Amino acid sequence: MPEATRTPKEGSAPRVVVTRPLPEPWLAPLRDAGLELDVADRDAPMAPEALQARAPGAAALWVQLDDRVDAALLDAAGPSLRVVATFSVGTDHVDLQAAAARGVRVANTPDVLTDATADQGWALLLAVARRLREGHALVQRGEWDGWSPTRLLGTDLADRTLAIVGLGRIGTAMAHRGRAFGMRVAYHGPRPHPERAAELDARFEPDLDALVRSADVLSLHAPLTPSTRHLLDARRLALLPPHAIVVNVGRGSLIDEPALVAALREGRIGGAALDVFEHEPQVPAELLAAPNVALAPHQGSATRATRAAMAARCVDAILAALAEGGTA
Ligand code: DGY
Repeated sequence: MPEATRTPKEGSAPRVVVTRPLPEPWLAPLRDAGLELDVADRDAPMAPEALQARAPGAAALWVQLDDRVDAALLDAAGPSLRVVATFSVGTDHVDLQAAAARGVRVANTPDVLTDATADQGWALLLAVARRLREGHALVQRGEWDGWSPTRLLGTDLADRTLAIVGLGRIGTAMAHRGRAFGMRVAYHGPRPHPERAAELDARFEPDLDALVRSADVLSLHAPLTPSTRHLLDARRLALLPPHAIVVNVGRGSLIDEPALVAALREGRIGGAALDVFEHEPQVPAELLAAPNVALAPHQGSATRATRAAMAARCVDAILAALAEGGTA
């Protein structure tokens, strides 16, 4: 639609740009509130120019984790914009400073996806530790010829160290599951969390390198920022014990992906359980071919109830921001 037709006319309903097609029940509360919905018709990332072309005059943007919300987009939207709701807990794709400087509220979806994401981390971890991909493939190919004392021997997790980087909501949920599997928990982060740590009987490790050295499983839960980008780089990968499994259900760029691929290729680590990648949806061919990995298409929060709860959070944030601004 040309820009001129998107600029609100006096008295017209506030417009909400939604960057993916979403189920009607998720959108209904916005329609019921009398808002005009401008919903993308393709379930694919919108090109930045296309999003900028839709933005002028919008009161709210409901975006996804692969939409870049930068100063250019905020300026394209103009002074009508009150809120950006992102369908994710991560906000690394949003220029928070630029939004604050323009008085635009940013809302994300914490809490409601914690368990689903930790479940996904554990599903992938167990798949690597117990070689489920290889076992499944063997059975599926019809090549299973009966029980064997030595076939597909995996790794025990009980009595091993689960090293968590970032004991926030998802890191803590990952750690609770680890305790249920009989693991010891150690964690690193900007500060200790004595209450969470007491519940988990977890040890705070102020030195990230020391945490990495002690890890049987290293699970990354830090938010992606310039200072956490590539926190697991070639140097730190070299500190991991050779049997260690790396888990990442956070953001791909927490890991230097080529360095991880090299460590796997050279057998310097035990495996990798990955829900996220540096350049999604691209996954390096060598990772695809590696036997000791479990890979998923960024589906940590992908359960029906979780996604509906995330949608409700976005809807509530949009309605609250517009009500406050007197536009809904
Ligand atoms: C998030 O919410 O940031 C997740 O990565 C999406 O599943």
